[in-house]
Amino acid sequence: MFNKRIRIKELLAMEPQGQEVTVMGWVRTFRNNQFIALNDGSTNNNLQVVVELGSQGEELLKRITTSASMKVTGMIVPSLGKGQKMDLKAAHIEILGDSDAEKYPLQPKKHSLEFLREIAHLRFRTNTFGSVFRVRHALAFAIHKFFNEKGFVYMHTPIITASDAEGAGEMFRVSTLPFDQTPRNDKGEVDFKQDFFGRATNLTVSGQLEGELGATAFGEIYTFGPTFRAENSNTARHLAEFWMIEPEMAFYDLEDNMNLAEEFIQYIIRYAMENNREDLEFLAQRLADEEKQLPQDKRSEMGLLEKLDFVLNNGFERLTYTDAIEIRKESNHNKKKKFQYPITGWGMDLQSEHERYLVEKHFKKPVILYNYPAAIKAFYMRQNEDCAPGQPTVAAMDILAPGIGEIVGGSQREERLSKLEDRMKEIGIPLEELWWYLDTRRYGTVPHAGFGLGFERMVQFVTGMTNIRDVIAFPRTPGSAEF
Ligand code: 4AD
Ligand code: MG
Repeated sequence: MFNKRIRIKELLAMEPQGQEVTVMGWVRTFRNNQFIALNDGSTNNNLQVVVELGSQGEELLKRITTSASMKVTGMIVPSLGKGQKMDLKAAHIEILGDSDAEKYPLQPKKHSLEFLREIAHLRFRTNTFGSVFRVRHALAFAIHKFFNEKGFVYMHTPIITASDAEGAGEMFRVSTLPFDQTPRNDKGEVDFKQDFFGRATNLTVSGQLEGELGATAFGEIYTFGPTFRAENSNTARHLAEFWMIEPEMAFYDLEDNMNLAEEFIQYIIRYAMENNREDLEFLAQRLADEEKQLPQDKRSEMGLLEKLDFVLNNGFERLTYTDAIEIRKESNHNKKKKFQYPITGWGMDLQSEHERYLVEKHFKKPVILYNYPAAIKAFYMRQNEDCAPGQPTVAAMDILAPGIGEIVGGSQREERLSKLEDRMKEIGIPLEELWWYLDTRRYGTVPHAGFGLGFERMVQFVTGMTNIRDVIAFPRTPGSAEF
């Protein structure tokens, strides 16, 4: 058996009393032909391996280079040096894989996040990405834990679909037809009948529609999977491939939906705070250092940990779209024409600058906006009854987070068949394509609601990383699909 190692994180938690241990990892640095800083990915804290002078051959010492991998057996003893609690006195060192220090792209010095994106295959070996991806893992785990404790059923919705759940037409086509000789029908259109599935298909933009089928049988379900959007947005918060969590609940109205979303977000933040303290402290310091470069008015008012604590201890502000428009219209910011897109009035879609004004400047905490104009929201949202004349709204809700903007989008669903059909006809969605979706409204329809949390935006919020490309292992964005 090869793997009889202890992880460095667990080792560092022990009291060093001369125990013999075996560790394996990658060399971060090697000083004075004597001190190896060894890292195995379990923590940012390196283990100091001490090579006693004369105890190892010259040949072996030369092979101890940055990023070489090794197995070390020896005794742990209290460290004589400052900065670490223990040393591992190496009795036996085996190099598992050499690394040419001259060519290794990740030299032991500070690199920009932009540069690290170009070597995303190696960036996990840095402290920043070590912390980010351990926190990402913890959040993913906490999500399953939360829903499992609540009795939700985890549902795997399809990746390949024939429907556009959001009706926004931002889909990646899935096809095996030859590009250079696509078969055509009588009308000269591409003949998808000859395609793999016998119809036009795409990568899913959301698992919601299938999720509703599950909720109207199990009561409460959630999905957690990859979703794809072919929107040409090159921003710090858009990806073409991102992960989304979509709970869907029968017997829930909009308020129940908001309550669940708020409890859910607080739960997963708390989990990370309790289980990833060290990584979050590291990231908080990283963010503070990064913000020192910014002018005073661009810096966050709170540190990362302070912000997370604040979110745990304060409810989210809830207000209607209509009230939010008023606040922004009346703001000095708008009157002084500081918005790139001025607030024109009721009915306008909100730009991220408007959302951020509301959460960062006005309320200074997460905000849930609800009851949006029907015209700017998806077809499946429930039509409100008590609307002002000429201002039809739907029971939608978006959660806006400081520094990020929209993090959750959701709604109560239109459960009344005739209203849903009317809406679909109005905006030109063929009823026959979604016959299976409409069946839930035909056979035992119930009030129900759900939402989607963008996982990477959540990871951004918790880790304080400003660019979404730095919280997913291998980002897919317009013009970029390396690795
Ligand atoms: O608001 P969206 O489009 O809502 C839906 O897809 C609904 N079907 C959800 C539901 O009710 N079940 O997307 C939900 C969330 C957004 O709030 C945002 O956090 C994230 O998904 N999101 C993106 N994240 C990264 N890159 C993109 N291009 C994203 N588009 C949406
Ligand atoms: Mg949305």
